[in-house]
Amino acid sequence: MSTAIRFLGIPFKNPIVLASGILGVTAASMKRCIDLGAGGVTVKSLSLKPRTGHRNPTMGGYDHFFLNAVGLSNPGVDAGIKELKRFKAICKAPLIGSVFAGSVSEFGAVTKKIVTAPIDLLEIDISCPNVGDEFGTPFAYSTEAAIAITKAVKKQSKRVPVIMKLSPNAWNIGEIARACEEAGADAVTAVNTASAMTIDSAFQVPFLANQVGGMSGPALKPIALKAVWDVHNTVKRIPIIATGGVTTGEDAIEMILAGGTLVGVGSAAFWRGPEVFGKIVKEMENYMKKKQVKNLSSLIGKAHRS
Ligand SMILES: Cc1cc2nc3c(=O)[nH]c(=O)nc-3n(C[C@H](O)[C@H](O)[C@H](O)COP(=O)(O)O)c2cc1C
Repeated sequence: MSTAIRFLGIPFKNPIVLASGILGVTAASMKRCIDLGAGGVTVKSLSLKPRTGHRNPTMGGYDHFFLNAVGLSNPGVDAGIKELKRFKAICKAPLIGSVFAGSVSEFGAVTKKIVTAPIDLLEIDISCPNVGDEFGTPFAYSTEAAIAITKAVKKQSKRVPVIMKLSPNAWNIGEIARACEEAGADAVTAVNTASAMTIDSAFQVPFLANQVGGMSGPALKPIALKAVWDVHNTVKRIPIIATGGVTTGEDAIEMILAGGTLVGVGSAAFWRGPEVFGKIVKEMENYMKKKQVKNLSSLIGKAHRS
């Protein structure tokens, strides 16, 4: 029995990968996730220039969901590349780079830089719901924008396979994933956070300084699962990183049955600690033993065949 899996030819010891933006800011914190059981890590998204992000409060944890509007604070791609090099010097596990930008040409420019780093895969964040003020509507809501960005980043990324990260708010996420595939994307991640907010009834104001933000954690899982289901139904050959609300091994198995090959885990660390990666893998192994599953790849998309 093995949890090992290949994604675009790259071997992962298990399919659980750290999602972008959570615990993945420094080489040391990403290495810690691997030591605690993750099969791979995704770095916090990097932009061409450094960004300070939004004012506090930028995040809050609730019983069944997590809300954030961090505003994509990051040290910029040049400083980020140094951190990615540091990670690879201390850890051989698969490393997924991540970038975002405010225009199609800027996506091309930041990709051109990050592909000089020792990353194995590159995720393109076109779906963050928290930067609407600066950049307008997230690109992932528009088929045309998703196509244009896919083409721009593929042009700059000959060596590193490109994964387009999609939004659960796009009603036609399957169609958008298919459009990305036709434009040259090597894979997709479904999904980013869902557009959301909370209001503090004591102070009668929105809780987040940015007023609105993105929701992740367990409440997102059924939405993410449906998104993965839709994407699996529409793409022809590209694999999926299934992300959103995965907190237990059973959640991860459900995502694979819906069509995920890798499974992203982020907010679960808020409820179960950074040890969550190893715990999820152990729970997946228990499931595999109970169901006599020899290798995980036999489960990919299996719920579609029932
Ligand atoms: C605090 C926080 C910061 C995030 N930052 C990023 C980011 O920089 N880039 C990105 O693509 N996604 C970002 N995300 C989205 C996650 O990668 C993931 O898609 C989402 O949280 C759903 O997964 P989860 O429920 O396991 O957390 C962030 C999420 C959180 C909670």
